[in-house]
Amino acid sequence: MVVSIRSLGLTGIAGYEVGVECFLSGGLPAFDVVGLPDAAVRESRERVRAAVKNCGAKFPVSRITINLAPAGRKKEGTLYDLPIFLGLMTAAGELDTPPQDAAFLGELSLTGALRPVRGVLPMAMAAQRAGIKTLYVPAENAAEATLAEGLTVYGAETAEALVRHLKGQQRLSPAVPWQDGDDIAQAPDLRDVMGQENCRRALEIAAAGSHNLLLIGSPGAGKSMLARRLPSILPDMTRQEALEATEVWSVAGLTDPRHPLLTHRPFRAPHHTVSAVALSGGGSFPRPGEISLSHNGVLFLDELPEFHKDVLEALRQPLEDGEVTITRASGTLRLPSRFMLVCAMNPCRCGWYGHPSGRCTCTDAQVQKYVSRISGPLLDRIDLHVRVPSVEYEAMRRRETPEDSATVRARVNAARARQHVRFTGTGISCNAHMPPSMLAEFCTLDDACEKLMQNAFSKLGLTARSHDRILRVARTIADLDGAESIEPAHLAEAIQYRNTDILKG
Ligand SMILES: Nc1ncnc2c1ncn2[C@@H]1O[C@H](COP(=O)(O)OP(=O)(O)OP(=O)(O)O)[C@@H](O)[C@H]1O
Ligand SMILES: [Mg+2]
Ligand SMILES: [Zn+2]
Repeated sequence: MVVSIRSLGLTGIAGYEVGVECFLSGGLPAFDVVGLPDAAVRESRERVRAAVKNCGAKFPVSRITINLAPAGRKKEGTLYDLPIFLGLMTAAGELDTPPQDAAFLGELSLTGALRPVRGVLPMAMAAQRAGIKTLYVPAENAAEATLAEGLTVYGAETAEALVRHLKGQQRLSPAVPWQDGDDIAQAPDLRDVMGQENCRRALEIAAAGSHNLLLIGSPGAGKSMLARRLPSILPDMTRQEALEATEVWSVAGLTDPRHPLLTHRPFRAPHHTVSAVALSGGGSFPRPGEISLSHNGVLFLDELPEFHKDVLEALRQPLEDGEVTITRASGTLRLPSRFMLVCAMNPCRCGWYGHPSGRCTCTDAQVQKYVSRISGPLLDRIDLHVRVPSVEYEAMRRRETPEDSATVRARVNAARARQHVRFTGTGISCNAHMPPSMLAEFCTLDDACEKLMQNAFSKLGLTARSHDRILRVARTIADLDGAESIEPAHLAEAIQYRNTDILKG
C-alpha cells in the first residue's frame, strides 16, 4: 500500500509543498529514500527507526521506499523525519491515515523528541497558499508557524504525543497566535553622542529615506559610535516588511523561538574578513548572506577599505536591484536584499589625513592608493558622504544632554509616514527606492532648484545616477521638513552630501 503524507520544502527562501509517499513491499528488508534527498534526508532512516521503536510500535520488516514528490527538486534537511515517520506508522497499520488537509514537518531525535528546523515561516506560508488547514511542527517552531495567518498550528514535543493526538487519545491544544510582548532589547542611544550635529543630521536623513551613508574620519572621531546608534532611530517596520525580513532570518535559522517576528529592523555588521559567499549568500543549498539578512534594515561595513575587493564589488548589483541573484548548476535563485548601506572609513592608512593636528604621515600617493580601494561605482551608489570631524573639547564637556534617539525617531517616523502615503499601492515604501519614472512625478524642481542642480552638475562632475540619488535625498529632506515640494534649501543640503571631493582630500 502507498501512504501519502503532506509536507513542505524550501528553495532559497520560498516554500513549496512536498508529498512524502511511503510504500511497503515484499522482498528483502530495505529502506530507500528517492526524490533527490541530500545526506541529512537519507539519514532520517536511523532517526525514524529509533522513534518508531520508542513509540512502542514495531518497525515494519519489509522493503520500504520513500518518495519525496516532486521528485525532480532537491530536498534538504531533517524536516522530513516526521512525515516519513508518520507514513511508516500508517503503512504499518499503527495509525489511521492523517487528515488530508494537514501537513507535517520536524526533525526527530533518537528518543522520539521533536527538534526544531529552519525555514518554518516560509514553509507555513506555502502551506497556507496550498490550501493546507492544519500544520504540525516541533513545539519550538510553533510560535513562528502561527505568523502565517489562516493556519491551525499544533506544536508537539515528541512524536509519541503527536501519535496520541492523531489517535484521539490525548489531544494537543492549538498554538496561540504569537503576539509581540514587551520589548526589553535596548539599542545604544544617540543621547551619548556629544556634538557632531552634522553627522547626526546625516544619520537622521539616511534613516528617514533609507539612503546609503559613508562616514569618513580620523581614529576615535566617533564613526563606529554613530553608526551603532542608527538602529535606535530607524523607522518602525510595517507588518509586511517584518514578515519579509523574518522569512530570510528563518531560512538562515536565526529566528528566536520566543520572539519569532523581527519587530526591529535588522542591523548587520559583518567583520571585514567576511567572504563573498557569506556576504552575498550561496552554497550548494543556497543560504542567505549578510546582505539578505539586512533586508529591510541596515548593512554596516566598518573599516570599509579593509574589505576584500571582490566582496565590495559583489554589493553593486544588489544595491541597485534590491535582490541578489545566485547562479548554481541547478538554476538561478533570487534572494531579497533591499538594505541600507552604511560604511565607515579612515581617510588614509595612518588615519589622520586632513586632521587639524597635521599628524598624517602618508604621502599623497599613499592616500590615493588607500582611498582607491573603494571603487568609483560603489561610491557613486552612496548617497550621503559625511566627514566626521574630531569632536571639539567644548562640545565634549558641555553640560546639557544631547537629543535622545526617541525624539529623532519620532521625526523619522513622521517623514516615513508621508512616504507611505505617497507610495500607497506602488509596492515601494521609501524615497530611496523610487524608480526613475517616479522621480519626474514626486521630485519636480522649480526654476531656482533647476539652476542649483545645473551648477552642481558641472562643478561636481555628477553622473546621471548621482543626479537621481540627489533628488531622492532632497525629497527626504523635504519630507523631514514637512514640505510639499522640494525647495532650494532642501536640494542644496542634498547636493552638499554628494561632495565626493572628501575622498580626494
Ligand atoms: N561625539 C562623541 N561623544 C561622546 N563620545 C565620543 C564621541 N566621539 C567619540 N567618542 C568616544 O570615543 C570612542 C571611540 O569612538 P569610535 O570607536 O566610534 O571611533 P571611530 O571613529 O570608529 O574610530 P576608528 O577609526 O579608530 O574606528 C567612543 O567609544 C566614545 O567613547
Ligand atoms: Mg571604528
Ligand atoms: Zn595618513
